[in-house]
Amino acid sequence: MKPLKNWDNKTWLSSKKYINQFHKFLKKKVILKKNTRVLDIGCGRAYIISFLQKKYKFETKAVGIDILRNKNTRKNILFKKSDAIKYLKKGNKFDIIIIKQTIHFFSKTKIISLLNLAKKNLNTKGTLLIFSLKTKNNKIPCFKKMKKQLSYSLKKDEILFKIIKKNLKRIKEVNFNFNVRISKKKYVSMIKNRYMSCLLNLSKKELNKGIDEINFNFKNQLNFTDTLKCLSFRK
Ligand SMILES: C[S@@+](CC[C@H](N)C(=O)[O-])C[C@H]1O[C@@H](n2cnc3c(N)ncnc32)[C@H](O)[C@@H]1O
Repeated sequence: MKPLKNWDNKTWLSSKKYINQFHKFLKKKVILKKNTRVLDIGCGRAYIISFLQKKYKFETKAVGIDILRNKNTRKNILFKKSDAIKYLKKGNKFDIIIIKQTIHFFSKTKIISLLNLAKKNLNTKGTLLIFSLKTKNNKIPCFKKMKKQLSYSLKKDEILFKIIKKNLKRIKEVNFNFNVRISKKKYVSMIKNRYMSCLLNLSKKELNKGIDEINFNFKNQLNFTDTLKCLSFRK
C-alpha cells in the first residue's frame, strides 16, 4: 500500500476535541498512572500518546511506532520509525498497547503475528485495545468510487475482526463515537490530500471527479458520526 501521509494532518482526527473525547473513552477502559507504560502501534503523528504523556507525565515515555515518520510528529514521546512486527519482536513490555485504525494495513497472516507478539509484550493485567472503523452502515462521506474502495476495505476488516476475535478469545466490544462537524471546503481538501487509505490508489482524474460529486451532493456543512469499533483484551 502507498504511504498514508495526511490522515491526522490538521483533520478532525488530530483536533483537540477528538483527542479529549478519545481520552475520556480510554479512561473508562484502562487505568492511566505515572508508571503506566503505553505503546501506540501505527501512531501517525502521535497526537493521542502525546496528549497522554503530557497529562499523566509517564515515568517511561509513551512509545509510538509507525513505518512512516511524518513532519510534525509530536516530540514529547519516544517515536520509533519501524514496522510493527519488527518492533514487537524486541520484546519490550507495556501495560497498554493501542492499535488504532491500523489493522487494515496487515494481511491475514501478518495480523496473527501482530496479535501474538502484542499479547506477549503485555505486562500481567495489561490491555490491548484495537480500534477500527465500524464496518456496517458507515457514515464517512464518500463519492461513488471512494465508497466502493471503502466497502472493499471494510469487507477485509470484517475478516480481520473474525481472526482477531478467534485469536484473542476473551474480548470486550464497544463503539467510540465522535460527531464530526466540518465544512465541505475543509473535507474536500482532506480528500485532495488522500486522508484515507481507500483514496491512495485512485488516479488524479478519479479524485477530481469524486470532488465534483462531493461538491454537488453535500451541503456546505457536513455533520456525521465517525464510529470506531473498539475490541479490548485483558491479559
Ligand atoms: C490510518 S493511520 C492511523 C494513525 C493513528 N493510529 C490514528 O488513529 O490517528 C494508520 C497508520 O499506520 C501506519 N502503519 C501502516 N502499516 C504499519 C506497520 N506495518 N507498522 C507500523 N505502522 C504502520 C501508517 O503509516 C499510518 O500512519
